[in-house]
Amino acid sequence: MIVPHDGYWLPTATSTIAYVVDDPFWLIYWVCTVTFVLITVPTLGFAWGYRERAPGQKALSQNDHSRLLELSWSVLPLVFFFWTFVVGFRGFLEMFVTPAGATEVQVTAQKWSWSITYEHQGQPVVVGGVGADFKFPKGKKFKLVMHSVDVVHSFFVPNFRIKSDVIPGRYTTLWFEATKAGVYPLLCAEYCGQDHSNMLARIVITETEDEWRAWLAEEADPSKKEGYVPAEHGKQLYESRCASCHSTTGEQGPGTRFAGPSLKGLWGKTEQTDKGAVVIDDEHLRESIWQPQEKIVVGYGRTMPVFQGQLTPVQVDALIAFIKSLDAPPGAP
Ligand code: CUA
Repeated sequence: MIVPHDGYWLPTATSTIAYVVDDPFWLIYWVCTVTFVLITVPTLGFAWGYRERAPGQKALSQNDHSRLLELSWSVLPLVFFFWTFVVGFRGFLEMFVTPAGATEVQVTAQKWSWSITYEHQGQPVVVGGVGADFKFPKGKKFKLVMHSVDVVHSFFVPNFRIKSDVIPGRYTTLWFEATKAGVYPLLCAEYCGQDHSNMLARIVITETEDEWRAWLAEEADPSKKEGYVPAEHGKQLYESRCASCHSTTGEQGPGTRFAGPSLKGLWGKTEQTDKGAVVIDDEHLRESIWQPQEKIVVGYGRTMPVFQGQLTPVQVDALIAFIKSLDAPPGAP
């Protein structure tokens, strides 16, 4: 997936609360730089100027301390550190207390992708998967209510300067208001297993709210898009949702990087499961996507996440169409 690259220093700040991170960062950066110079330059100067000029020479001054100097280098940093604490704490409150009037969306993290549940005409619209585009309009406040279905992840949008752990069994929140239309990377900033580094998506900020609403309406029912082909939509869904565990090449099981059965030649095949033999048809695929724990193919673990509520019936139909479009095994009905 292509994420915009924005230099090696702080990326361009594009949210209204970015200053709560940037201001203390630059304050501390400059205080450290100036202090470093103020300490090292005189130290080097004194070391050279008062060096031992003859063997066994005594120091010119025998003063061993200065109360004024010691008090000032103790009290001034103390005042500075208290001040940075106050600045940091106020920024923390600003970042984690959502202002009134923010539009709420739900963020779900799972190994290894993000999904966001929006609301469109009273109905939930789930957008997600590896490399997904999550759109939001500029100049509107959003509250993110976040949870994880498996392990600890961390929601991080560097351009917005927002980051928070996303934890199973607990809700955490963040909020933002984007100030500039554009495409910004969304990263997972907590090591969460094999595909942690691929847990990427994009936050796309639209110029207007209308543009965003039109996109939302389209996401709510992709089958209404012009030129909609179920198997093509299914292929996109496969790439973002399934490809990290299921191959389309026949590669599967131990010794490969695929934790689940390959989708190649799957439709119409007879599989041995923990509940007996099943013929893989539309109904079995639907169940295996929405409720994968119902029947486990012999030789595989219970590792697949539940996609009920994550994928709509239209999306499941598209995935089934895609699976059917792959080669059938020899001797299939
Ligand atoms: Cu999710 Cu790292």
